[in-house]
This record gives sequence, structure tokens and C-alpha cells, in this order.
Amino acid sequence: MNIEFPKSFFWGAASSATQAEGRQAGDGKGENIWDYASKKYNHRFYEGVTTENTSYFYRDYQEDIQRMQDISFNSFRTSISWSRLIPDGIGDVNPKAVAFYNDMIDTLIEKGVEPFINLYHFDMPMELQKIGGFENREVITAYKNYAKTCFELFGDRVKYWFTFNEPMIPAEAGYLHDRHYPYVVDFKRAATVLHHIIVAHCEAVNVYRESKQEGKIGIIMDVIPVYPRSQNPADLYAAEMADLFYTKSVNDAILKGKYPEKLKEVLVKYDQLPGVTEEDIALIGETKIDLLGINYYRPRRVKAKECLPNPQGVFSPEWFFDEYVMPGRRMNTSRGIEIYPKGIYDIAKKIQTEYDNIDWFVSENGIGIEGEEAFIAEGIVQDQYRIDFLKEHLRYLNKAMEEGSNCLGYHMWTFVDCWSWGNAYKNRYGFYRLDLATGEKTVKKSGLWFKEMVKENGFD
Ligand code: BG6
Repeated sequence: MNIEFPKSFFWGAASSATQAEGRQAGDGKGENIWDYASKKYNHRFYEGVTTENTSYFYRDYQEDIQRMQDISFNSFRTSISWSRLIPDGIGDVNPKAVAFYNDMIDTLIEKGVEPFINLYHFDMPMELQKIGGFENREVITAYKNYAKTCFELFGDRVKYWFTFNEPMIPAEAGYLHDRHYPYVVDFKRAATVLHHIIVAHCEAVNVYRESKQEGKIGIIMDVIPVYPRSQNPADLYAAEMADLFYTKSVNDAILKGKYPEKLKEVLVKYDQLPGVTEEDIALIGETKIDLLGINYYRPRRVKAKECLPNPQGVFSPEWFFDEYVMPGRRMNTSRGIEIYPKGIYDIAKKIQTEYDNIDWFVSENGIGIEGEEAFIAEGIVQDQYRIDFLKEHLRYLNKAMEEGSNCLGYHMWTFVDCWSWGNAYKNRYGFYRLDLATGEKTVKKSGLWFKEMVKENGFD
């Protein structure tokens, strides 16, 4: 075996509540922004698929967890749906949700699959969005109470907790780049949302510490490593700014306990600084996580700006860099993103050198392919491309670990093909194929490969 991982390595996949659970009549779930937006702005969702019918995990979880065991998962990340557990975001708990999550957790443990539970995967309860979502500080308090409720209900069995998946995304996609509801385009509001999410994260970590439960708590970040077009100072500056806005802003706050000075200077200069109190700064400074999840899909290649931005336009990080379309880059054309396996190694090195070599794991990595039915032969999707993708990334991960990176596991995105934020079921990512028409779930070639690879803890 030339690529070998430690015996204790976490192997599995990640998913999220809204993307997989679906709805059932009488389930008591409250509406969240995706239930609302996928109906109200249905044209924004690929083939108009709404959150109602996502992957049927709420209905099929017992069989699904068996499917995890069938392909050797020893761990699985999903999230709790805030609006399923507490339909209005604050107030009464939905007993059907408590029963569902209890049984899901118990079944996972029974099948030898460690539950990794995330509290928030982009899915703000609609009632709280109506009062401004994370723009409103009251929602930080609501989130803190929700987190406390989750720890009290499930913390006796869940040993790995995560406060947020990709804290940057609800801010950036929801308040700056018009991809997620509420479809606002306003940098300062986006920065406010991001700051409040970071404060909410700190509050939840502290509530967890106060509970004296014995698990670990962390956060899942999407890290896009930045590469400049050249070593020309203007290209290097572009790369520095892209990294500052999109990575260091969150990573430094959460992992170093402070926002980068340079970010503050730029935001002051352009009058874009959100309201940050001294208490917030103190809280950020004293909060530490135990475990970091990293979602890695693609690199970000940048170059110096070709044209100056319109000073009257909407302020944005893109005022400081242009995307660099590198000739010859390897593309996943379904999603329109570059495939760059070495990025995972570069991230590991960065964690090692800049972030104290904290314990971390790959919490998402994967390849979304459109029209996978074209690859069905002998009843299964022959996704050799996914196996190759996994091998390439795992090789780089393994190399980083040999060089001392504290990586504890690898979760692919995703387990069964799931719904996504806009693309709905366009790009398929799963180890299992979902037939949308029948609800049938069939293992893909990559799932069978994964099963053997996990048994061996590596591959040749
Ligand atoms: C990740 C998210 O960034 O990307 C997932 O955490 C998402 O929720 C995944 O589904 C893939 O994105 P997409 O849009 O290609 O499905």
C-alpha cells in the first residue's frame, strides 16, 4: 500500500439537513429561508426543484445509515435543521424533530458511524429572517439558545459539534453576490452578517464549554487557496487582498482571536466597517475551538485589476483583484470550477504554519457532475472520474500528513446525491445515486471503491 492513513482516521461524507431531509406532512417543521425562497423565487432553482423533496433522509434515515455502514463509513456529518427543531427559531421545541434527531443519532452510533453534528448550514428560520436574520443581534441570542438546546438534547451522545458550515457564505452569497436569499447587494450589511455569525459562533462555543460536556467543538470553513498570476507586485497585492477578504477575515478571527489589522484599515478607508463592540472583540479573543473542518473544492487564481472600479458602485472585495483565467487549467465544466488537487496540500501547510497546526479534517471535498445518468452501465454509475479525483486529493493530503499536518479525517461531499442552493439536483456529488423520480438510491462505483479503500485504510 503506498498511500496509507492512520487506523483512527475518520472516513465518511458530509451532508446537511435542508439539502437531504425533505419534508413530510405533519412533521411539525417550521419554514426556513430555503423553503420560502425555493417556492417564491422558484426560477432561481435548477428545474424548479424545491426543498420539499430533497433526498428523503427524514423518511429513509434508517436505511440510509445502513447504506453508510455498507460502504464502511465510520463517521458522518450532517446538520440539525434549526427550523425543524424550533419551528419559529425561538420558543417551543418540535417533539417530532427531537424524536427524529434522537433516533438518527442513536442509529448512527449503533452502526459504528460517529455523528459529526453541525448547527447551521445556511438555513435561517424564516421567522428570524423576518426580523433581519443575522443582521439583527437578537438573532445571535436566538442562535445561542438554539445551540444550548441542541447540546442539552443530544450532547450526551454527540461528541463532535460544529457551530457553522462556511460562515462566509450566508454573508457573501446572501448580502453581497445575490445568490442566496435575501438577495441583498450591500457590502456593509454583508460584513455585519459575517461579524454577527462570528460572534454567534463564539457564544455557542462558550455555551458548550459551560455545559461541561466532554466532546469537541469547532467550525467548518470553506478555504479557497489564492494563487497570483505572477510574482509581479501588482499580482501579489491582488492575491493578498483576495485572501484578506475571503479567508483571513474569518480564519484569523476564529483561529487567531482577532481580525487582521489591514482589513480594518481598508474598511475604515472605504467607510464599510460594521458595528463591532469592545465586548465582541474580547469574546473573539478568548474563544478557542478544538477541531477545524475545511471544505475544499477549488483554487482562486487572481491577477491585478485591469480596470479601476467605479467609485460610485457597490464596494466589494473584487475592487482589489480580478479573476485570472489561467490557460490550460483543468476544469470541472459541470460546476465551472478548476480542479486543483495540490490545493488541499497547500491548505494543510497553511494550517500547519499559520494556525498552530490545529487538529483538522477535510469536511468537504468532491466533484459535482451534471448528467451522471450517462455513465450508468450494469445498473450503477461508473464514476471512475470521482475515484480518480478522490485519489489525487488523498495523495496530496497524505503527503501533508507525512510532513506533520494534524489531519484527522476525510469526508467527501456527499453521501447520497443531494439538493443544493440554486443548482438543486443539477450536479451530482454522492457515493449513492438518487433517482429523483422514484426515490431509489443506488451505490456508485466510487462508493464501492471507498468501501474497500477504508477497509485497507489506503490504496496503491
Ligand atoms: C459546499 C456547501 O460549499 O458546496 C454545500 O457546504 C454544497 O452545501 C457544496 O452543496 C456543493 O455546492 P454546489 O452548489 O455545487 O452543490
